[in-house]
Amino acid sequence: MPDDFMNLTARFPADDFTNGPCGRSVLVAGGAGFVGSHLIDRLIARGDRVICLDNLSTGRLANVARHAGNERFTLIRQDVCDPILIAGAVDEIFNLACPASPPKYQIDPVHTFKTSVLGAMNLLELARLKRARILQASTSEVYGDPEITPQPEGYRGAVNTFGPRACYDEGKRAAETLFHDYHLQHGVDIRVARIFNTYGPRMAADDGRVVSNFVTQALAGRNLTLHGDGSQTRSFCYVDDLVDGLLRLMQADVTVPVNLGNGDEFTMNALAELVLGLTGSSSGITRKPLPKDDPRQRRPDTTRARDLLGWQAKVPLAEGLARTIAHFAAEMALATPARTKENIPCAT
Ligand SMILES: NC(=O)c1ccc[n+]([C@@H]2O[C@H](COP(=O)([O-])OP(=O)(O)OC[C@H]3O[C@@H](n4cnc5c(N)ncnc54)[C@H](O)[C@@H]3O)[C@@H](O)[C@H]2O)c1
Repeated sequence: MPDDFMNLTARFPADDFTNGPCGRSVLVAGGAGFVGSHLIDRLIARGDRVICLDNLSTGRLANVARHAGNERFTLIRQDVCDPILIAGAVDEIFNLACPASPPKYQIDPVHTFKTSVLGAMNLLELARLKRARILQASTSEVYGDPEITPQPEGYRGAVNTFGPRACYDEGKRAAETLFHDYHLQHGVDIRVARIFNTYGPRMAADDGRVVSNFVTQALAGRNLTLHGDGSQTRSFCYVDDLVDGLLRLMQADVTVPVNLGNGDEFTMNALAELVLGLTGSSSGITRKPLPKDDPRQRRPDTTRARDLLGWQAKVPLAEGLARTIAHFAAEMALATPARTKENIPCAT
């Protein structure tokens, strides 16, 4: 599949990318990832032409394979740290390119920081050149380990510049500054979404985030890994809600940062119980120490999103988890070879 897919996308090289008869031309950097692929589904469904630019470091071709062969879809395999050259019109740019899970972004922290900063600069330059509107996928990590809850956009955060999460947190903070300054200095039309924990189908099973960890462990009958005493909290937004928020923000006349997340807060103990209940798993719990700089609590103040975008998350955690569990169960079933006469082990 990957080779065929690359051959197929080679029919639509960047140089040939012009504004066709369809809707807007939208570039999604990081489009082969978890959130980006759901966003692309929505953009294609509404009639846009989409360029997915991705280095496939944490994204997967399988996430966008359904669009192979669609003449309104182009895949460019490229790192956002390199200058980005696109021929033809680009009306909107979504910058989602960055590994989002701590174990992944800590593999090469210098490259993670470059991805946030150089990637933002390269895409902002492209937006300036094309007069495109550009949205940055920022993060609740800009608030660090917050001293107040819930966190409104005016809160400036408590971030460690000198720890294992800093490459991501500080990279995203620097990217926000670049967005602010390109708007001020060059008049680039910016949008900034501060995304809180999001989950759903197509999260990578091995990406180390708590929802995918718990669900895959429960389905495999392994113990759930719970860090600390489990009293730390997170708010979980289902991916369809988030994509709806990103699309609304892109269309709104709002250049200040906007929190996008679900306001319901859960302890990790409660999440573990919910996953065990929904999967019907009899897995136990293995406790491990809290990772360094792990935030104790996370909950968005979504007043701004409600007032300016008319948006709020709708999907309850139990419902979103059930859909996510169904996705992982199907993936795991596919990964398990069917027992045929040939591969059933027999005693000799
Ligand atoms: N999912 C969440 O809970 C969450 C929360 C806050 C912010 N975000 C932000 O949303 C965006 C998408 O997150 P996700 O959960 O889909 O993560 P993901 O890892 O699934 O997707 C990121 C995508 O970016 C690509 N990428 C990474 N580095 C790149 C580079 N240097 N050049 C080109 N492509 C690159 C990856 O291959 C992948 O396809 C990220 O920017 C992340 O920081 C996500």
